[in-house]
Order: sequence, then C-alpha cells, then structure tokens
Amino acid sequence: MAGRDAAKVAVDALTQRQAAAEHARLANEIADHDRRYYQDDAPSVTDADYDALRRRYEAIEARFPDLRTADSLTRRVGAAPAPKFAKIRHAVPMLSLGNAFADDDVTDFIERVRRFLRLAETEPLAIVAEPKIDGLSLSLRYEGGDLVSAATRGDGTQGEDVTANVRVIDDVPRRLRGRAPPAIVEVRGEIYMTRKDFEDLNARQQAQERPQFANPRNSAAGSLRQLDAAVTAGRPLKFFAYAWGELSELPETTQSGMVDWLAGLGFATNPQTRLCSSAEALFAYHRDIGARRATLGYDIDGVVYKVDRLDWQQRLGFVSRSPRWAIAHKFSAEKAATIVRDIEIQVGRTGALTPVAKLEPVTVGGVVVRNATLHNADEIARLDVRVGDTVTIQRAGDVIPQVLGVIAEKRPPKAAPFAFPTRCPCPLHTHVTRARTVSGEEGVVMRCTGEFACPYQVIEHLRHFVSRRAFDIEGLGEKQIALFYEREWVREPADIFSLKARNAKLKLEDVEGFGEQSVHNLLAAIDARRDIALERFIHALGVRHVGETTAAVLARVYGSWAAFHDACLRLAEGDAQARQDMDAFDQIGDAVIDGLAAYFGEAHNRALVERLTKEVRIADAERPRMDSPVAGKTVVFTGTLEGMTREEAKAMAERLGAKVAGSVSRSTDYIVAGPGAGSKLDNARKLGVTVLDEDGWLRLLAPR
Ligand code: IVH
Repeated sequence: MAGRDAAKVAVDALTQRQAAAEHARLANEIADHDRRYYQDDAPSVTDADYDALRRRYEAIEARFPDLRTADSLTRRVGAAPAPKFAKIRHAVPMLSLGNAFADDDVTDFIERVRRFLRLAETEPLAIVAEPKIDGLSLSLRYEGGDLVSAATRGDGTQGEDVTANVRVIDDVPRRLRGRAPPAIVEVRGEIYMTRKDFEDLNARQQAQERPQFANPRNSAAGSLRQLDAAVTAGRPLKFFAYAWGELSELPETTQSGMVDWLAGLGFATNPQTRLCSSAEALFAYHRDIGARRATLGYDIDGVVYKVDRLDWQQRLGFVSRSPRWAIAHKFSAEKAATIVRDIEIQVGRTGALTPVAKLEPVTVGGVVVRNATLHNADEIARLDVRVGDTVTIQRAGDVIPQVLGVIAEKRPPKAAPFAFPTRCPCPLHTHVTRARTVSGEEGVVMRCTGEFACPYQVIEHLRHFVSRRAFDIEGLGEKQIALFYEREWVREPADIFSLKARNAKLKLEDVEGFGEQSVHNLLAAIDARRDIALERFIHALGVRHVGETTAAVLARVYGSWAAFHDACLRLAEGDAQARQDMDAFDQIGDAVIDGLAAYFGEAHNRALVERLTKEVRIADAERPRMDSPVAGKTVVFTGTLEGMTREEAKAMAERLGAKVAGSVSRSTDYIVAGPGAGSKLDNARKLGVTVLDEDGWLRLLAPR
C-alpha cells in the first residue's frame, strides 16, 4: 500500500502520490496523539517523537504545497481543537475513589468505617464488592422516565454534554422500564468497550489506514467524545450502572438494593457483584476476580468495596473528593523488562531536577512505555541504574511508570555509573543544590537555583498555570507556551490575558502554523477564563506544597481572594498571628504555610500576582449550606465526644459550612469541649471564645 511504504521513504524521495498518502497518514497519527494528550490526558509518545512527526508533516507540505489545504494541521494552533461539547453541571458532584493496594489498606478501611460509625465489635458490617471497570464514568439524567441528558465526569463538578452520542448506545435505555418511574433519576456508571470489540475496531482502523487505539479505555473515550454521533453509533460501546446522583425519591435502603433497582429500570449491572461480610471475604473476592480477570472480556483495574447500608453511607460522607464509605482495591501493577537508552534530566516548575530513564519502547498492560521516572539522584544511586542496563519497570494505573531494579546479568561490560550533573541543564547552567525539606534537613531533591531567571522553571510555571486543573485554557498547551515564551510574548501569567490587546502588533496569525480562525479561537478561550473560581486560581499560582486539594481547602476557609491574599501577605511579613490562624485549619500544615510564606515573601511574585489579578475576576468560594447557623464559623473540638466520633463531628460541621480548626486562636468562634479537655479549653477561656458542651453544640445546629 502506498501509505505504508511511504512511511519509510525520506521526504526528498517521495513521489507525489506517496506524499499525499503519507501526509494523510501523519495527519491522522498527529491528530490521534493530540487527542490523547489534550483530551484523554494520556500522551503515548515522547515530545521528541511527536515533534519528529510534525516536522516530517511540515517538510512534506514544504515540498508539496498543494497538500497544505484549509484543514491542514499547520493552519491550526498546535493541537487539533478539542471537540466543543457544551458543559453540564452535575446536580450532585461525581467523585472519585480512594485506593487500597495492599490487604492492610483494606483492613484499615474497614476499621476506619467501624470507628467512624462507632460500631460494636459484634455489629455486622455488610460490604458490596464489585469489579472496577476501566472505562469512563457517565451520568445519565432521566426526567419523568425519559433520558434528557448525559454528561461525562469532567472535573467532577462539570462534565461534557454527550447526550446525542449516548442516545445511540444500546445499553443506555432511552426510557426507563416500569410504569411509574420517579420524576428525577440520575444513573451513574461506566462506559466501556469489550476487548473483542476493541480488537475488531482496531482491525477496521488499520484496514482504513487510520490510527490504532492504545487500549479499550482509550477507544471507549475516543468513541464517546465524537462530535458526530453517527461515528459513536458505529462504535460498540457498553454501559454498567453502579451508582446514582440526584433522585426525587430514594427507593431502597441499601447499595445492593439500589443496584437491583437499577437493573429493574432496564440497566446492565455487573453480574460479578457480591455482598460480603468480612475482610477475609473481600480478600477472597479480590483474589478470585483477579484470577478470572482475563476471562471477563473487559478490562478492570481492581475491585470496589462499598458499605451496603445507605444510612451509614450518608453518615460517613466524603473527604476531599472521595467517599469514606467506599474504596478501590487495585490489582498489583504490571511489570516488564526493557533497556535504558539514556538518562535525561528534566527541570520542574520548582526547579527540582528529575532524572527520567528514556527506554526502549515496551508494552506494559496495553500501553507503550518510553519513559520512566528515576525520582532523584539518590534513587539512581540506590538502584545503580546505568545507560545500557536492562531494567524492570512497573506501571500502575495512571501513575508515571517507575524503574524497579536492574537485571545485573544483562549489564553491558562498558556501562558506567551515572554521574548526576552538578550543573542544571537549563541555559543558566546554575550549580545545583540539594533542596532542604520543610524541617530544614538536607533533602533528596536537587534543585536549579535560577528561579525566575531559569526559563525552564518559568515555562513549567506557565504550563501549570494554563493546565486543565488550573486555568484550563483551550488551545494553549505546552507547545504554544514554549513558543510564546521564546518569542518573549508571554513571560508571566498576566501576559496571557494581554495577548489580545497586543495582537494588533504581535500578529499571531502570521506565525507559521497559526491561522486567523485558530487565533480567534485562542483569544476567545483566554477571554472565557477571565472569570475563575478561587480554588482554581490558588492552585494555578503553583505555590510549593499547594496542590489541588489544599487549594480547595484554602478557598473554602478564606472564602474570598481578598481574605486569602491578605492572610498570605501578613504571613510573608512574619505575622505570628496570621501563621497561627492558618495553622489552626485542618489539613493545613507547616509545609503549606512555609510554601505560601516563601511565595508571597518574594517581591517578584507579589508583583506578578498583582498584575494578574487586574486581568481576571476571582469568584468567591462556594460555601456549603450558608443557611446553617454555623456557616462560616470556626470551631474547635476537644476532649471526648460521647454521641459521635471526633471525625464524624468534624465532617458534620464541615457539611454545615463551618471551618474545623485544630487549635484555638482569636478567630475561633466556638470550642466544643467534652470530658478530658485540657490546654485548648484553657486557652479558649483566656481568649474569650464561646465554650459549648456536646449538647450545646447539637442545640446550636438544630435550634428549637
Ligand atoms: S463507584 C462515589 N464503582 O472509578 C463513588 N466507580 O476511581 C462513585 N469506577 O470515577 C464511584 N468501576 O469512573 C464505582 N464499580 C464501580 C466502578 C467505578 C469503575 C470508576 C469511576 C470512578 C473511578 C474512581
């Protein structure tokens, strides 16, 4: 076939016919990588390999200009634009699950549940066990029994509207079975593709010289997120229902009852679902499913355990983004052996130098792995990994593959120990230093000392800033950031927002690879992000130790940018009270506080933030249940509580919009003291904080 042969021919030697075939093949392949990178968040090639594909594509166009048609990739900004789906806000957030890897993690989970609920040892605890499907989660909304919308999980709060595509999937009933379905039913579950269907689809793709999907999950994701529902209709997608969102009435009292109810409405539910009553039964289930994994016909990456009683689920509630009443018990990771071709040093956003093993590509669990992290210099020394070594690598779920060890017998005689560079690979060639940990000890991380002058760090900062979980600017990915930085168009976040005003001079559309339409889309996408949620904004700043979860906590406790910013500035000035106030919040520790103090202690950062805040509007954090009597109040629990556990009390207070602090300060509103309360209570009295006993607290929550 012209296309396959042409792949091996140098551009200069291609005939016109071969060039056309090769141009089309490359376009497909690049579009597929873009999709994996931008939409599935699962790149499957190295940047270097991707660049090589694009260079070849561009070289072909340079030699055969006729091929540069209106839809050429070189006329778009970087990636193919992500399909434009409308957004749907989930009535009830779609959460993820905590993970257990070892049996001990499962025992801990059961103990945590029992402790939280204060279950007597003799009290039975029924737990539903079911396979964890390796697909993508979907929420289906039925009103009056009719399917009205379908949304992907998205960021958990907002997903993409895939209603038209879902209507063509056989496993998704367009109308619920039964005579009187409830007014509102949201059914949640997993869209997946069987392995057989995935292989058949890939064979068809190959026959049409179209790119292959890496695994069933990716092909299910790609098939669902099609702008043209007719394409989805031709793809064999399936659906298992296992959960629910908003319901106008709760028809059952148990998880297992609910799953049976879902089956009654016409949904496929997993036939491997079992009700267990002990940790041993869960382990046996895990082993059994693990052994039969290959025969199930679809990919699973573990099993899920869920507390059966719904009233207990309700009491257990959530922590961060995961329920306390469920956990995913993963299967152990997949391993493979391959050769280390090189060890590369990458510079991260905080200047940390991370060594990465560049590997001879190898397939692990259905995905081609080309890179594996070596973490740091000490890890390389510990493993004694050398270029040329054969190593075992491991890939677990979405985690970056890791090098486990070296196969000593396979070491080539000339392989030399790896010398960790003493200078940063960045253009500044700074001396690298060992970073100190929060407690001041010498850490394992080597760091570039270039900070704002180090282009690698600045680019990584900008990339983080625009990334999906931060500002999420469509069409502004790694490649555009690097290009804009190089041209000195964007040197800090605020510059992104002034691009539009400066474009009369910059003329982005004149740059090779940018067309008028794509520049228009990009500038519109930037404008669309001028309104941003406080937690995203805090996360986007890229302060050390302030990840997504911490940013969400900070947003919740401070409520507004003004309050948070003020606290950070005071912190940076060494204000002891500001530090104490922040330290009092649950989940905020020294590392976070030091990170914020260091960040806002830097004049460069303060100025950068100031310029940025002029460009955007930061929405106040959503406060849960503002109508509750304790909303916005700060409360400290101390001593023993009698009617509920400390954890449960804390969870309840947070649900009602209160902030739960670990220590008493001037900003504490209430201290709830049980028997055995000590210094916290004394301190509270000194500061004049309202002291309540447990009953007083409960009366406060439910007046009258
Ligand atoms: S329950 C509130 N059950 O796993 C918890 N999730 O890692 C709702 N998943 O986003 C999830 N199989 O996409 C649940 N049997 C199962 C599942 C399952 C696959 C996925 C789901 C979720 C992710 C969390």
